[in-house]
Amino acid sequence: MMRHLFDIVDLSVEEIDELISVANDIIKNPDKYANACNRKKLATLFFEPSTRTRLSFEAAMLELGGSILGFSSANSSSSAKGESVTDTIRTVSCYADIIAMRHPKEGAPVAAARRSLVPIINAGDGGHNHPTQTLADLLTINREKGRFTNLTVGFCGDLKFGRTVHSLVNALSRYEDIKFVFVSPDELKIPKYIKEGVLAKNNIPYVEENRLEGVIPNLDILYMTRVQRERFFNEADYIRLRDCYILDNEKLKLGREDLSVMHPLPRVNEIAVEVDDDPRACYFKQVENGKYIRMALILKLLGVTL
Ligand code: NCD
Repeated sequence: MMRHLFDIVDLSVEEIDELISVANDIIKNPDKYANACNRKKLATLFFEPSTRTRLSFEAAMLELGGSILGFSSANSSSSAKGESVTDTIRTVSCYADIIAMRHPKEGAPVAAARRSLVPIINAGDGGHNHPTQTLADLLTINREKGRFTNLTVGFCGDLKFGRTVHSLVNALSRYEDIKFVFVSPDELKIPKYIKEGVLAKNNIPYVEENRLEGVIPNLDILYMTRVQRERFFNEADYIRLRDCYILDNEKLKLGREDLSVMHPLPRVNEIAVEVDDDPRACYFKQVENGKYIRMALILKLLGVTL
């Protein structure tokens, strides 16, 4: 049966373990995978801006020996002429074997998949979900910590619109002994549907805070995020909230020696550049891991076995 990936929980915990072990094998033996997707094509359809997600999907397919096609903005596709997403996807699914799409509307990939002839991967739908960033985050946590259990994870910044936060909270809520600390301004708190549908449902302990300094010493992972300007209705609100948290060396001093600082990127101001040289900074490792885990995901959804 054809599989899509809309939400991280479309994958079972066992399937995530499997993807992580394939990604780790790709890291060790890249040559083994160099022709795995020979003659297969990946389309990247990005109706919203992206650097890492789109290019890592493309690099992933190229490293598997496949080819790529697609567009990087809605303006350069027939969407600008008024074509529906469903028709665009139906069309592209005649040309490609698998599609990664990013769209500003929540749920767009689900709607698009109804008419698709090939697997659809959600590469970010509005302020909702971003499952492949979560896979990159999970591979990073696996490589840094060696476990998904017994972790205190802090999320800081725009927890309302940050889709990477929603997907990672969802993913980690399936493991034992997880605690969350949510640090945000009152206006950008984690949505109620996550609190009720994910945290309360799984009995996950969490606290909500306004200040970062006080909580840093307790964390195994600090996941920083950008204030999502493009989801604001009002520029004045964005300007008021954008610089509310800035992680610099001074604040990082409060963190444990084995803290991992993560960020899905792009960063704006929320992590000072000086932090990049701290061995606890993991965000450029996440970038690299994003390619390997997407290679594993493409293999899985195309049903390629070596
Ligand atoms: C994130 C996204 O698009 O949601 N970026 C990414 O894919 N790595 C985070 C963000 O844009 O802030």
